[in-house]
Amino acid sequence: MKKMCSEYIIPGMMLAKDVTGLDGSVLLEKGKVLDDKDIKLLIDAGIDYVYVTIKEKEEEERFLLNIAEDYVSKFFMYVNPDSKFVSELFKIVVELVFDGLKKGLELPCEDILRAKHVERMKDLFFKDMGGPEDIVKHELSLASFPDVYFRLKKLLDSGSASAKDIAEVVSSDVALATKLLKLVNSPLFALAKKVTSIEQAVALVGEEELTEVALGLSAIRYFKDIPSELMDMKTFWKHSLSCGIFSKIIASYVKDVNEETMFTAGLLHDVGKLILFKNMPYSTVETLIFARENMVPMVEAEEIVLGFTHTDLSNLIMESWEFPDEIRDIVTHHHSPRGANFKKGAIILQVADNLANAIEVSRGGKYVVPGMNDEDFDELNLPINALRPIVEKHNQLLDTILATIL
Ligand SMILES: [Fe+2]
Ligand SMILES: [Fe+2]
Repeated sequence: MKKMCSEYIIPGMMLAKDVTGLDGSVLLEKGKVLDDKDIKLLIDAGIDYVYVTIKEKEEEERFLLNIAEDYVSKFFMYVNPDSKFVSELFKIVVELVFDGLKKGLELPCEDILRAKHVERMKDLFFKDMGGPEDIVKHELSLASFPDVYFRLKKLLDSGSASAKDIAEVVSSDVALATKLLKLVNSPLFALAKKVTSIEQAVALVGEEELTEVALGLSAIRYFKDIPSELMDMKTFWKHSLSCGIFSKIIASYVKDVNEETMFTAGLLHDVGKLILFKNMPYSTVETLIFARENMVPMVEAEEIVLGFTHTDLSNLIMESWEFPDEIRDIVTHHHSPRGANFKKGAIILQVADNLANAIEVSRGGKYVVPGMNDEDFDELNLPINALRPIVEKHNQLLDTILATIL
C-alpha cells in the first residue's frame, strides 16, 4: 500500500482504502481500479492523497517509473531538454526518485510544492529603496568578520607562509582547527595517512590550498547566528556543502584547476543569499515563493522580484572581505560562467550547482534545476558518463562531511 498524491495517480492503480469526501460520504470504494474519470473526480473533489496498491511487481515498476518521470519533469521545465548535460542529469534524478519510490519515498503533493503567498511584511530595506551596494554597506556595519580570517588572508597574501605559520594562526582558533583536521581526514581528501596536526595537514594538502579551505570554514561561522524561522539554514548549508563536494570531485577530473579552491568556492557560492536574507528577510521569502509558484530557478526569481541577484551581493561582500580573486570570480559567475576570468572554475561550479539541485529534487527539494549550456560543459572535457560516478561518490560523502563541518 502506498500513500500517493492524487495528481500522481496513474489509471490502473487500485484503491487500498475507501476515499471519503468532505461530508464523510464514500466517493470511491476500496478495491476500485482507478480510471481517468476517477482521477479527475479525486482532483475535482480536492482530495490531496489516497492509498493505493499495485498488484503485479512488474506493473508496480512501470507505474513508479512513470511517476518518477512525471515528477522530475516538473523540475526540469526551465531547462533545454535537448541538452546532453540536462538529459543525463534528468535520467540520473529519475533513477534516484524511482529507487526512492520503491523504498517508500513519499513525494510532496502539488499544493506543497506550490507555495502560498505570505502576508507582506517589512524589511530593513525595501525592494525599491536599496540596491546591492546599499545592502552590503549595511551588512558591513552590522558585524565584523572573524579575526582569524584576516590573519589567514595576510598569510596567504604574503606568499611565503610556512606550515608552522599557518598552523599557529589556525590553532589559535580551536573550533576551526578541529573542523579543519576532521575535514582533511575525511574521505573527501582521501589522504594516504591520518593527520594529527595542522602542520602535517599543510604538508600534505599544501600551504595555499589548506589556507583557502580554512578561509572558507571561518567565513561560514560569520553566518552562524542567522535566525532560522524563515529560512531553513540546515538545508542551505547542506546545499552549499553539496556544491563544495561536487566542485572538488569534478575538479579532480579537469586539468588546471585546484580542487581546494573549488571546494571553498562551492562552500561559499551562495553567500549572497545569506546577505540578502539577513537584510531583506521578507523579500527573500517573496522571492522563494515566486520561484516555487512559477517553477523558475531562484536566480531568475531574484532578477524579476528584486532586480538583482545573490551573485551581485556575493561579489560585493567578497570584495570587501578581500577574498582571493579567483574564489570571488568563480562564485560571482556560477550562474553566468561566460563572464568569468576563471571560466573553467565557474563552469565547474555551475555543473556542481546543477547536480546539487538535481539531487535535492530526489530528496524532496522544491526548487527547479537551473540548467546550463552544453558548450560550456564541453569546455571541461568531462565525459558525460562521468556524471554518474561523480554523483555516487558525492552521495557517499555528503552526510559524513556535513556532520564534520556544521
Ligand atoms: Fe546560486
Ligand atoms: Fe546554489
